[in-house]
Amino acid sequence: MTKASDVFILKNKKGLEVSFIAHGGQIISIKVPNHCGEVADVVIGYDTIEETLAGDAYFGAICGRYANRIVKGQFEINGESFQLDTNNGANHLHGGVDGFNNRVWDVEPVKIRRFVQAYKLSLVSPDGDQNYPGELSVSVIYGITEENEFAIEYSAKSTKDTIINLTSHAYFNLKGAGEGTIADHELTLNSDKYTPIDEEIGTVSGEIAEVRGTALDFSSGNLISEALESNDPQVKLVDGIDHNFVISAYDESLRIAARLEHEESGRMMEVYTDQPGIQVYTGSHFDGSEKGKNGKPIEKWGGVALETQIFPDSPNKKNFPNAILKAGRNYSHTCVYRFL
Ligand code: BGC
Repeated sequence: MTKASDVFILKNKKGLEVSFIAHGGQIISIKVPNHCGEVADVVIGYDTIEETLAGDAYFGAICGRYANRIVKGQFEINGESFQLDTNNGANHLHGGVDGFNNRVWDVEPVKIRRFVQAYKLSLVSPDGDQNYPGELSVSVIYGITEENEFAIEYSAKSTKDTIINLTSHAYFNLKGAGEGTIADHELTLNSDKYTPIDEEIGTVSGEIAEVRGTALDFSSGNLISEALESNDPQVKLVDGIDHNFVISAYDESLRIAARLEHEESGRMMEVYTDQPGIQVYTGSHFDGSEKGKNGKPIEKWGGVALETQIFPDSPNKKNFPNAILKAGRNYSHTCVYRFL
């Protein structure tokens, strides 16, 4: 049996190295060399496993069963109503109080041709877990390639009709964790629409709006600072970016969702997914009071999470993609982080 603090490492010959622990499948570091061979750890986190276990519950973690928010924690399937816990004001966030980020995953090495190294993380979530219907068997592959890709492949099956939306919650900073904010990173999103929020806590209104003419237009690349410093009411509501973007021409195939670039350090990453949306969250709730890697404070906007997903609150929004997983059917979701 795997222990919460067990550490696993994936490495390729180009020097990309991803470390994670069994607790929450939390990615604790991603070491990436730039063109000059200078290595930086590009995900925010802590120096020790003890601090990771006691620290921010979502750093690098697998979130589920439903990542992001479900308004009032309520939804209906086949005419039956379900009430999940409300752990985010009146809403349900990232699977509830005891979400998948808080579980000890069973981890085993697996041989898969397309990866130079891979691990399979699995867990069984019992029927009624956090009040979700159906026993859900989940497995997640973490795999690395010689093309500097770190892939996350989720799959799941339920014994009853249920809802599902798994994601990964690493915060990236291409200068290196603790080396300042991501304001100077350029972000490009394959998206010309987003789902506006209607209150400070970040719940979506149900509208699908154009990004054109707003501070959230990253369709042809923009410095993140331009949004952070703008007076756009959507940005003001959450003191940064905490929005779901609609991936253009979604057709369930793997396609580019985002590119993040930091010119000075020469690091760039791309995010590919087969999901319809991506949450961009600039870590506005960090306030510098907590110590992160190298003893440096975890500051506001110190990292950006790029979470591939079905839209927030989809179970209650008829115009959003379907988040229902029928009994016995397979849920699958791929997310690839590629470092260039
Ligand atoms: C959400 C934020 C939330 C954060 C918690 C993100 O995925 O978009 O609103 O505060 O998770 O870590």
